[in-house]
Amino acid sequence: MILEVSPTSDIYDVLVIGGGPGGYAAALYGASAGLSVAVVEKEKVGGTCLHRGCVPAKEFLETAAAFRAVTGASEFGITVADPRIDFSVSQARKQKVVDQLWKGLSGLMKGRKIEVIEGAAKYIGSGRVEVSDGRVLEGQNVILAAGSVPRSIPGFDIDGKIVMTSDEVLSLDSLPASVAVIGGGAIGCEFASMMADLGAKVTILEALPQILTGVDKDVAEVVLKSFRRRGINVHTGVAVSGHTPHADSIGTTVHFGDQQSVSVEVVIVSVGRRPNSEGLLSAGAEVEVDQRGFVTVDQYMRTTEQGVYAVGDLVATAQLAHIGFAEAIVAIKHILGEQVAPVDYSKVPWCIYCHPEVAFAGLTEEAARTAGIDVIVKKDPFGGNSRARILGETDGLVKVLAERLPDGSAGRILGVHMVGPWVTEQLGQGYLAVNWEATPEEVSQFIQPHPTLSEAFGETVMALTGRGLHVG
Ligand code: NAI
Repeated sequence: MILEVSPTSDIYDVLVIGGGPGGYAAALYGASAGLSVAVVEKEKVGGTCLHRGCVPAKEFLETAAAFRAVTGASEFGITVADPRIDFSVSQARKQKVVDQLWKGLSGLMKGRKIEVIEGAAKYIGSGRVEVSDGRVLEGQNVILAAGSVPRSIPGFDIDGKIVMTSDEVLSLDSLPASVAVIGGGAIGCEFASMMADLGAKVTILEALPQILTGVDKDVAEVVLKSFRRRGINVHTGVAVSGHTPHADSIGTTVHFGDQQSVSVEVVIVSVGRRPNSEGLLSAGAEVEVDQRGFVTVDQYMRTTEQGVYAVGDLVATAQLAHIGFAEAIVAIKHILGEQVAPVDYSKVPWCIYCHPEVAFAGLTEEAARTAGIDVIVKKDPFGGNSRARILGETDGLVKVLAERLPDGSAGRILGVHMVGPWVTEQLGQGYLAVNWEATPEEVSQFIQPHPTLSEAFGETVMALTGRGLHVG
């Protein structure tokens, strides 16, 4: 069924709860298709990604990159006397970037005639949403996009002074001298990398046997080696049991493992995020929420109540802004009654912005082998890449795996894994190859510019054909 577009109606075609990446993408995409859309947001549109997550974190990682470039400039014959960081200036620059993007997004929404309603919203059933100011709004369709909040662990109450989550770290005006990062996932590794590069003494405490679980082992190993070389203390396979705040000095002592401890100024808890579903639904809603608080959806992002969809961190899929975008588009297309391909979560792009950066799409070698798939694997270290040598950034590699056909040749490309300089900007062609189910023969027809970092991908794929230039 194609919806009647009713821009002047009191009943919106689409009513969205939450103005983060999932919610604002649904609003922008829906409005560009001619739907009347309203978004209820309790803070600022842009959500966690823009205000307390991806964007500010990456901005600080860029501060760290600028500092690395300056401190390493002597290699290029450039003398810089005594480089220092005034983190309050870094903080102000981050805020300026965030504010500019926020204004841009707000203007874009206004331009598309999306009504942004300030307040906390609750879905009360039958397409109705109650706003904290008492208003009740109605939508022919409702999209729940309330996002997620940081989790903590017992014994680590977030006080914003000694114990912090990403929310508080991104608002710091000065850098702590020492930090314990609990959890070596994406957030933990990004903060550890940034803090260490800016001069803090960093310790990572990770419960599982490796940091960046889920990332290809060869890739995670490169990050681990770089972290250790830069003085980051990485403890894996350790349980964190609690902490004892210092009585006479700033900071605390964190207890972990077998009676081990580390004394730090600040603890950053980065042990995952939980869906923000508490208080989102009232008794009238027929929307099912699972035991962990995620809203249950099908492949078209439909909840268990007809006409109600959920997208982004509120549902149990990868908690990435761009997955929120993709899910929002699926929901809107479904609302419009158009044909839509659900998100294929096994092939989505992942980018982690620690130094060195990590980017990948598709199966890891381990996952492929565990699934019983016979694969051919080729790797190209950035050490042999001209551009990486020029940059002086040779840590890292590109790894591509393809299925092995019965005649021994390489079939579909199943996974592309990168670690090294600017790989988050290089994943594009790897992502396309995986999702297009392209073969190395097909991809290696295309010319890679030289010298570039991105030719490492072309070289690796060419090697999978059985013949290569620089990669054997
Ligand atoms: P995560 O799930 O990626 O990592 C959390 C880590 O904490 C895991 O390695 C886990 O084993 C560990 N952990 C859990 N409990 C622990 C304990 N008691 N002691 C020690 N370690 C413990 O979660 P993270 O890093 O907080 O990120 C939250 C979400 O945001 C994730 O879904 C992540 O993918 C996403 N995100 C992605 C980014 C990116 O891709 N660039 C950046 C930031 C967040």
